[in-house]
Amino acid sequence: MSTVSIPAEFTLHRKNLFNRTTAPRWIASHIRPYLWIVVMLVVGAIGNAALAAYVPVLTGDAFNAMTQPKPDTSVLLPLALTIGISQIIRGVLQLGRNFGAELLAQHMERDIRDELYLSLLGKSMTFHSLQPVGDTMARSTNDVREVNYMFSPGVNLVVGSFMFLVMPFLAAPRYHPSLLLTPTIFAIIYFIALARYLKTLAPITDEVRATFGDMNTHLSESLDGVEIVKGSAQEVAEVDRFVSNARRVRDAFVRQGDLEGRYIAMLILGAAYAGGLTHALLLFRAGEIDLGAVIAYFGLLQLLGFPTFTSTWAYSQISSGLSSARRILELINRETHLDQNAAGLTSAMSGEVEFRNVSFAYPTGDPVVQDVSFKVKQGQTVAIVGQTGAGKTSLVKLINRTYDITSGQVLVDGVDVREWNLASLRSQISIIEQDIFLFSRSLSDNIAFGKPEADRDEIISASKAAQADDFIHDFDQGYDTVVGERGVTLSGGQRQRIALARAFLTDPRILVLDDSTSAIDSATEDKIQRAISNAARGRTTFIITHRLSQIRWADLIIVFRKGKIAAIGTHDELMKTSEAYSRIFRE
Ligand code: CTP
Ligand code: MG
Repeated sequence: MSTVSIPAEFTLHRKNLFNRTTAPRWIASHIRPYLWIVVMLVVGAIGNAALAAYVPVLTGDAFNAMTQPKPDTSVLLPLALTIGISQIIRGVLQLGRNFGAELLAQHMERDIRDELYLSLLGKSMTFHSLQPVGDTMARSTNDVREVNYMFSPGVNLVVGSFMFLVMPFLAAPRYHPSLLLTPTIFAIIYFIALARYLKTLAPITDEVRATFGDMNTHLSESLDGVEIVKGSAQEVAEVDRFVSNARRVRDAFVRQGDLEGRYIAMLILGAAYAGGLTHALLLFRAGEIDLGAVIAYFGLLQLLGFPTFTSTWAYSQISSGLSSARRILELINRETHLDQNAAGLTSAMSGEVEFRNVSFAYPTGDPVVQDVSFKVKQGQTVAIVGQTGAGKTSLVKLINRTYDITSGQVLVDGVDVREWNLASLRSQISIIEQDIFLFSRSLSDNIAFGKPEADRDEIISASKAAQADDFIHDFDQGYDTVVGERGVTLSGGQRQRIALARAFLTDPRILVLDDSTSAIDSATEDKIQRAISNAARGRTTFIITHRLSQIRWADLIIVFRKGKIAAIGTHDELMKTSEAYSRIFRE
């Protein structure tokens, strides 16, 4: 089995056993561990079909016994018993087939989900900031489920009904070799029609899956942004957009249904019944076969009904499953450019940071950081100031390789960040984002997110240092309060202190605080000030802020403008040398 290695941020310590070249191969490589289930499915299907064919054969024998000049009724009871017993066994085999298919489908769903989740967590921020969450959700829920349906009922019915198609070929020569004619013609037309059907079906099922993904993207975005939707009274417009997306999904489904409806299999089944029966009757008139054979043959032809009925939708189930598999695989295979450098440096960090002629651009746009150089000693506090959109957030995210620079070098402790082991680098740098995300878990779990083994005492002392302990006690359930439950949400300032508590707990060597937009009342302000200066003590700290008091006391101030350093130095230096800087303080 060939495996394709994908450059990913974290391979998450699991070997990729799957062939990710094409969707069918990928599915096949997922089936491989469950060959025993496939055997069970196929044995069940063969047995089921053979015993289904046994009924018309025995019925034919019974007719022959009855239509003799002297009818022999003694064979009837044994024949009836044989039919009865064979059908009970058939039921068991059918159960095996259905059970096998269901088992395979569920295993497949679980394994693919697992693989997809691992791969999503392993991808870089560049990937995640370009990939809409709603579409990812559609792929990891509905598309994964389609792959499940592809096996049960899809493959189950296709394999099961295929065996029914085979049975007339095995049993008909028993009566007369020429009786193979009708099944043969039927099978040829059946497969030609099927091939053409599948070829036109594939693009339509692709479209069904894609429109569904689009609809989900829009839904998740308008729910995510429901506050702004309501705030700007755009409910009606959003609903309209949703309806038009939903209409596109419906249209795609209708096209699929339309195609399924035009499928000619039912027509050729009718022709096969008529042609086969005529053929058998002609043979009977010519004295070539007896009445029992005509009856049995007609019964055998009726087995063709199963593959015909199921083919209208079992194959489209497989087609949908393959479309979905392609979409999942496309997501898994999409390249990410960060390499975790597992063999890189893993030592304890002291916290010196240097930028050497660093430039950076997002994959989609213009450079946002241009030729930036500066050096920060271990333990210093750096304030970064600048207008909105100047690139401050982008700049600090280069330190822990949230994004990789385009040119130049970022060094931590004199070592290029790309030479560090990524996990080691990131675990010693803590970035408190501009908008702080809290999980729908308890406050203590949120605080201990970076250090799950922390005990309650550690969590409380970190919260005290971050000035969060007070307001946490105001909640009825204290540290066990679950965020998002019973309306518990936190204000911006509270979130920030939770994030600071997180940072105290993980005790990073480098702390980055992206604080540019928070506007907080002065009492809280004071608390946050204290929390931040606690946090900055003993570690290299970058603060992106508008608060003059913080800027004033920083060891180094970087005035950032349009991706470049406009001025750099201490407060006193900049007051003398930088007009732009001194203007901030004069206002
Ligand atoms: N940008 C981008 N893709 C992102 C993030 C940002 O293209 N995923 C662009 C923005 O359009 C902006 C530039 O990068 O033009 C700088 O953004 P940012 O670093 O976020 O600016 P800040 O200085 O942090 O702005 P603010 O004070 O508003 O936070
Ligand atoms: Mg920012």
